[in-house]
Amino acid sequence: MKVSVIGAGNVGATIANVIVQKNFAGEVVLLDIREGYAEGKAMDMNQASTILGSFTKVTGVTNDYEATANSKVIVVTSGIPRKPGMTREELLGTNAKIVKDVVSQALKYSPDAVFIIISNPMDAMTYLTIKETGLPRNRVLGLGGMLDSARFKYYITEALRAEGIDASLTDVEGMVIGGHNDKTMVPLIKYASYRGIPVTNLINWDIILDAARKTKVGGATLTSLIGTSAWYAPGAAVATLVEAIVTDAKKLIPCCVYLDGEYGQKDVCIGVPVVMGENGAEKIVDINLDGPEYKFFNASVEAARETNRLLAEVLSAAKDK
Ligand code: 2OP
Repeated sequence: MKVSVIGAGNVGATIANVIVQKNFAGEVVLLDIREGYAEGKAMDMNQASTILGSFTKVTGVTNDYEATANSKVIVVTSGIPRKPGMTREELLGTNAKIVKDVVSQALKYSPDAVFIIISNPMDAMTYLTIKETGLPRNRVLGLGGMLDSARFKYYITEALRAEGIDASLTDVEGMVIGGHNDKTMVPLIKYASYRGIPVTNLINWDIILDAARKTKVGGATLTSLIGTSAWYAPGAAVATLVEAIVTDAKKLIPCCVYLDGEYGQKDVCIGVPVVMGENGAEKIVDINLDGPEYKFFNASVEAARETNRLLAEVLSAAKDK
């Protein structure tokens, strides 16, 4: 089973490395446009496998899409990451053209692949991919909710620890839906739990609301600390998404997908709970949001639609050139 990762930067290389360490794929092809860059990172990972014992072969290539042929999953990380103080939406003009080109080249060699989009603004890039390729919507996914949920779980754990409950990071459950957007993503506070115990039973709402607030700007917080986008949690999230597809895990994962009536929305890509298996997004789980959650979710959808309108302008301007 082959998985290809387009873009060997921090996120792309970490995705490849986590896939290797999870040891579920036969081969990972890592592609970059920089001469020798993916080849070097692949060589380094293969050398690590002599120590860590992974059977997954990593093949690094420079802009050679033929090497990605017949991939089960294509991960698209190409494009520029944000700098401190930037929103993800500010990357639209640059990344739209890159993602459009990368997807069309990869699709030529892997017409049956599931595509996972990482490049920001991710919801719009996922929408771009589905519109440009015409692929069935179960095969075009965007990585946002799983990463934002990881941050939500982290901040809830930190809040429990501050309240004297020395919680393990693996014992906290939480989900974030909506757009992968600092302002409009929707941490589902009501469903946050500590080994099945609602967190609202353990700490007060103000503290949980503060954890939700920190979650929403979690990506920007890291970018301000490290000067570029994060890569460990994004890499772990994408590798887990890829694993769920390759192993047909039927795992419930919040993920950006194209809605066609679910949650009362059509023609938009946004983060919702999805059962992930060998066919990609196999089932969108329509949870019954309460009043406030529904209001926040709809606002998030509106923000995504606004970015899609800007995307259409960018693409039409590029056509006129
Ligand atoms: C993040 O939030 C890169 O958008 C990604 O870290």
